Amino acid sequence: MTVHFIGAGPGAPDLLTLRGRDLIAACPVCLYAGSIVPEAVLAYCPPGARIVNTAPLDLKAIIAEIARAHGAGQDVARLHSGDLSVWSAMGEQIRRIEALGIAYTVTPGVPAFAAAAAALGAELTLPGIAQSVVLTRTPGRASAMPPGETLAAFGATGATLAIHLSIQNLDQVVADLMPPYGADCPVAVVYRASWPDQRIVRATLSTIAARIGAGMSRTALILVGPALAGEGFGESRLYAADYDRRYRPQSAASPWAHWTPGDE
Ligand SMILES: C[S@@+](CC[C@H](N)C(=O)[O-])C[C@H]1O[C@@H](n2cnc3c(N)ncnc32)[C@H](O)[C@@H]1O
Repeated sequence: MTVHFIGAGPGAPDLLTLRGRDLIAACPVCLYAGSIVPEAVLAYCPPGARIVNTAPLDLKAIIAEIARAHGAGQDVARLHSGDLSVWSAMGEQIRRIEALGIAYTVTPGVPAFAAAAAALGAELTLPGIAQSVVLTRTPGRASAMPPGETLAAFGATGATLAIHLSIQNLDQVVADLMPPYGADCPVAVVYRASWPDQRIVRATLSTIAARIGAGMSRTALILVGPALAGEGFGESRLYAADYDRRYRPQSAASPWAHWTPGDE
């Protein structure tokens, strides 16, 4: 018996991976985080599957579901939104099921920040402007931030910030980021990226708070940084005509001239 942790993606059911879909179809038990996992992906569950929304359960009750399936020799598909590597609570579940000697696998999913960038048609790392993306959040009721992981500190780098779980703290986000980025720094808020009711608001640090309506209270990502302007950047050397590289050696003297795919 195995628990398959599966990243269910940002919302659109066709942004689930093929591996995730096939695992869901193969598991007689499916536990899903019903607050934001799209119910449409449950259509892949086999007929008669036990399907449990874990949103109202605590950790002990979730592990009890897994232990029950283990006792019955039934594989479990465990679905969380987006990808599992960020804010999925997978770590605490793995710690408990390892203690019970239960096997598990992890299948990645499309994270919300990638779906939001796609909705914006934006590359978050533009040459000469930003070469790093910080996935972060602000403190919430259930989670404090470790000291040092402040927006001011991340903002001092000039990187593109993808701020999760924070739309309700927008005023504080703006106050913290004004000093490092300035009032005219571009901001985009993407609400429910890839869902049918997706909404996008583009503004600046000085105008974003006034532009966000009351309907955007959760499941929104705040992207901040100069790269969001999508202008003023150089071109990457990778595709420059004179750039000597493995797949496009420029002369017989090139270190790549006698390289063939598969040499690596
Ligand atoms: C508990 S975290 C889950 C993150 C998820 N594991 C991921 O890989 O993106 C939930 C937060 O992610 C962001 N989020 C998740 N899905 C989103 C979507 N479809 N559009 C915009 N933001 C989303 C929001 O900031 C939301 O508050």
